[in-house]
Amino acid sequence: MAELVVTRRIARYPEDSYTAERAFADGAYEGLRTALTQHTPAELIDMVKASGLRGRGGAGFPTGNKWSFVPKDLYPRYLVVNSDEAEPCTFKDRELIEWDPHLVIEGSLIAAYAIQAHHVYIYCRGEFSRGARRLNQAIADATARNCCGPDIMGSGFDCEIVVHRGAGAYICGEETALLDSLEGFRGQPRLRPPFPAVKGLYASPTVVNNVETMASLPPIVSNGVDWWRSMGTEQSPGPKMFSISGHVAKPGNYELPLGMKLGEMVEIAGGIPGGREFKVCSPGGASSPWITNLDQEMSFEALAAAKSMLGSGSVVIMDETTCAVRMALVITRFFNVESCGKCTPCREGTWWLRKVLERMEEGEGRPGDVDLMLRVCEQMLPEVGAPASGRSFCVLGDSCAWALRSALQLFGDEFREHVGSGSCPRGASKIFAGSPA
Ligand SMILES: Cc1cc2nc3c(=O)[nH]c(=O)nc-3n(C[C@H](O)[C@H](O)[C@H](O)COP(=O)(O)O)c2cc1C
Ligand code: SF4
Repeated sequence: MAELVVTRRIARYPEDSYTAERAFADGAYEGLRTALTQHTPAELIDMVKASGLRGRGGAGFPTGNKWSFVPKDLYPRYLVVNSDEAEPCTFKDRELIEWDPHLVIEGSLIAAYAIQAHHVYIYCRGEFSRGARRLNQAIADATARNCCGPDIMGSGFDCEIVVHRGAGAYICGEETALLDSLEGFRGQPRLRPPFPAVKGLYASPTVVNNVETMASLPPIVSNGVDWWRSMGTEQSPGPKMFSISGHVAKPGNYELPLGMKLGEMVEIAGGIPGGREFKVCSPGGASSPWITNLDQEMSFEALAAAKSMLGSGSVVIMDETTCAVRMALVITRFFNVESCGKCTPCREGTWWLRKVLERMEEGEGRPGDVDLMLRVCEQMLPEVGAPASGRSFCVLGDSCAWALRSALQLFGDEFREHVGSGSCPRGASKIFAGSPA
């Protein structure tokens, strides 16, 4: 069994891992103590760079590099922890804030010290009421023990943490829309550059990092770079939480070394029930292009080479009974509903793709619909397979086209069958008829 790192305390103390009593008895904030007493901020940035830690929020950007983009001598700086987690089938950050909020807070304070930020905002998805409650309690408990707030552990470093709850828009997980939302505006992406590290919250240098990225920091500081690098692959070191769901017997969060084969993950999650065959997998959130190879190595680099992506680590397994059209519609409909409407390719493109898929699902598909949808995808994503090459203002528009295009390329015949037979050959019911937009 692989070593548990960010979920170690949760696995060991499933009843009360989130309480201050348990967390402090289990050594919480010792990584922070080491950071504050044995390292300068610059040393910490170098350590995190050397660890190869890549952000766990989706893009897999190297965390230490991101920190080093903050301009010297520009203050104040802010750290914003992204706990929006609205990607369908991703539920790892929620487990961390609910069951080990002290680990998230400890990691956030290490990051804040490294970039010399005295204010941290944790942007928490509005629906996460238990997570927000436990985070706030943990901040109060850590402050009462001098592990947060003024002069932390007598080190002279002051840092305040505020939990801010969002109002439930997927786009507010995109880091610049998140900053607009935090400032009190409607959450819509900002033009980049300038990037948040240079001009972010309140026009000040800001690092935005994911919850799991924060939770990875205390173990790295406590156990060292070599230990972290002893897990995972050269370019994707360490373990990662995977939210495995769909047609597996034991769906849930699994912390596994990066680079494991997809087939092994399916086995760890209990295998596909009923002896049914594997059909396809969405390996990294709804945005990710689908893959059909159970031998696929699950690392940032291997999935990029396979023209897909690891994303947030949400692995959805679909067996042979899955209707590709239905699944494509569920995903496209999500992106259309969550499109913020700021730019035309995404606002119009997701709407038209949804309309075509809906008529296909309703038995009113037209000959040529598959080619029509492929053309719309190509217009949204002119350079095949190149990430961030799309015509939309942010990655949400690209994401819709990435996922749908892969479904059309892999299962074009199944889509055509829907059109030809005027219904779903798998007998899927018309669940979308009359449902709200
Ligand atoms: C539409 C959209 C939604 C996103 N949602 C989230 C989210 O819920 N949580 C998250 O950490 N990152 C999300 N991201 C990625 C963030 O923009 C950002 O890259 C990330 O928070 C950086 O943290 P990391 O470097 O630690 O991965 C989203 C990006 C897009 C385009
Ligand atoms: S791509 Fe979509 S979500 Fe992003 S700015 Fe454009 S309309 Fe908004």
